[in-house]
Amino acid sequence: MIFRNVAARSASMPLRRFLSSSTDRKPLLVLGLESSADDSCASVVSSTREILSNVVLKQSKIHESFGGIHPLHAQEAHQRNLPLAIKGALEEAKVRLDDLDGIAFTRGPGMYGCLSVCAGSAKALAAASGKPLIGVHHMQAHALTPFLTASETSPAPLFPFLTFLLSGGHTLLLLCTSPNQFRILATTHDESIGQSFDKAARDLEIPWELGRGSPGAALESFAFNPLSPEASKNSSQVKNYDFPVPFRNQLSFSYAGLRSALTRIISSTPVSSMSLPQKQSIAKGFMVAAFKQVEEKLGMGLKQIEVEEGIQVEGLVVSGGVASNTYLRTQLRKKLDQLSPDRVIPLHFPPPSLCTDNAAMIAWVGLERLERGRIDSLEVMQKSKWGIEECEAEFEGKTES
Ligand code: KG4
Ligand code: ZN
Repeated sequence: MIFRNVAARSASMPLRRFLSSSTDRKPLLVLGLESSADDSCASVVSSTREILSNVVLKQSKIHESFGGIHPLHAQEAHQRNLPLAIKGALEEAKVRLDDLDGIAFTRGPGMYGCLSVCAGSAKALAAASGKPLIGVHHMQAHALTPFLTASETSPAPLFPFLTFLLSGGHTLLLLCTSPNQFRILATTHDESIGQSFDKAARDLEIPWELGRGSPGAALESFAFNPLSPEASKNSSQVKNYDFPVPFRNQLSFSYAGLRSALTRIISSTPVSSMSLPQKQSIAKGFMVAAFKQVEEKLGMGLKQIEVEEGIQVEGLVVSGGVASNTYLRTQLRKKLDQLSPDRVIPLHFPPPSLCTDNAAMIAWVGLERLERGRIDSLEVMQKSKWGIEECEAEFEGKTES
């Protein structure tokens, strides 16, 4: 666990000079900021895993009419909302800037203009307060969230573990051997799984409010929740829709073909003329096929790592917005049990509110990096493209991605 313990720290650690008091074992506090996509988030987290505040200001109302995130509108909304999120997070946590031990922000990857808002705010706060600044890799933060949410009943993952990071920008299967060492086993050839859900929700005209502002959650809710007796009158006549599952023997994802299949259905039967049960059957078929790829890659990834490379994995972490999906959670547990009948491989899902974008996960990696003395300078810039394998490359003498 991460503690402020000045006495025990080596004098050569860069962190030492930032710690103002010599109070033994007082937990560290970090403010995290996140604005890489469409949520303006601020959160204060302690090194004892306490989330003192976690403010998320959503922009779904702005973006729904565009059928996806509009980068300029998103940036403008962050400029309006992030200061409010910061104020709210400090107030809710009952801390002042002075009480903090560091300021962490999402440095990348994400939308450049959006990232500039949290980067600029964090740099200004760090400059004014003299607190350490930590520019965090967004996907590393998703992957390490189960360490923040660990408890007696849900222990932290052990290394090495496999991790699926499934979001609006990424579809990754990784091997994680330490908090900053990731190896990509599979990624997508075209669009991400989250994007495919967002576009399917748009094409099937499913209102985002069904998923409390998230198109993927709206698609899940529409696909899996029973229709009203009135709406499901002719549901027995509706066929099941089978969507393609590509790359069956290859460690890669692809979601473009799935979406073309949906476009073909919609061009022969306009959504306005579909019955609700038919539309539901299409939404369900789409999601089931999208997750089938995830299940199949789990089998292939586990085989590559355990059988071919002889590394025993200690668990599976699934995170990113798409990981809040209940159907996926059930399927992955079943698949793991089927793949490993003699050994229970622990499955770690953060709670749904911490699977989707939030600043608590950013603050947590901030704490973790603060502890390791990996602090950025005030000139650090946001990076819209940034490979997870390079998440701490600059501190390891490696060239940047
Ligand atoms: O991690 P995240 O909040 O933002 C990015 O870093 O991209 O992920 C957002 C993605 C969106 O595509 C959203 O539609 C999807 O996660 N999502 C879901 C669910 N909740 C959010 N997809 C499927 N089922 C859900 N319940
Ligand atoms: Zn994310």
